[in-house]
Amino acid sequence: MLPIVAYGSSSLKKKSVEIDENFPELKKLISQMYESMYESKGVGLAAPQIGFSIRLFIIDATPYSAEIKEHENLSRVFINPKIISETGNDWFFNEGCLSVPGINEDVCRKDTVELEYYDENFVFHKEIFTGIFGRIIQHEYDHLEGILFVDRLSAFKKTLLKGKLNKIAKGEVDKEYRMVFNNK
Ligand code: CO
Repeated sequence: MLPIVAYGSSSLKKKSVEIDENFPELKKLISQMYESMYESKGVGLAAPQIGFSIRLFIIDATPYSAEIKEHENLSRVFINPKIISETGNDWFFNEGCLSVPGINEDVCRKDTVELEYYDENFVFHKEIFTGIFGRIIQHEYDHLEGILFVDRLSAFKKTLLKGKLNKIAKGEVDKEYRMVFNNK
C-alpha cells in the first residue's frame, strides 16, 4: 500500500488542484488508493493523504451500510468535486482520520450536502448526499481544501489534544499501517 501522510505534514495543509482525464496513470492511482484505504481499514481516502495534491477522493462506506438507507453504490470515486451547498440541521458525528491515528472526536456539520463531481470515467454527476454518506464526503472534501477534522474542533478541545497531536507529528504513534511523517 501507499503510505498515509500523517498529521503535521505541510502537504496536508495545501489546497489541491483539479485534474483532467489525461492525468498520468489515474486508474492505477485510484486502485492503489483503494488498496491503501482497505489495508488501513478506512471508509474514505483523499489523494493528499497519499501525497498527491489533486482533487480526488474515494469512499467505501460499506461498513456503515446498515445505517445508510438513502444511498446506493457505497463505493465511489469523486474527481474535481465541488460543494454547491451545505444545508439542513447541524449534527455531531464521531470522526476519525487515517492521517490522525488514535484520535476520534465529535464534529459538527450540516446534514445535507449538494455536490457536483466527476466519477472515475469522467462522467459528470450532481447529487444530494445526507447522513453518514454525506458526512464522509464532507470530511474527504476538507482534505482537498487542506483542512483536517481536528481543525474543526473548538480551541479548547484542540488544546486538550495538543500533546497527542504533537506525538503524531513526531511519528510517536502505534502504527497499524504504513505512514509517512513530516511530508512536505
Ligand atoms: Co481524513
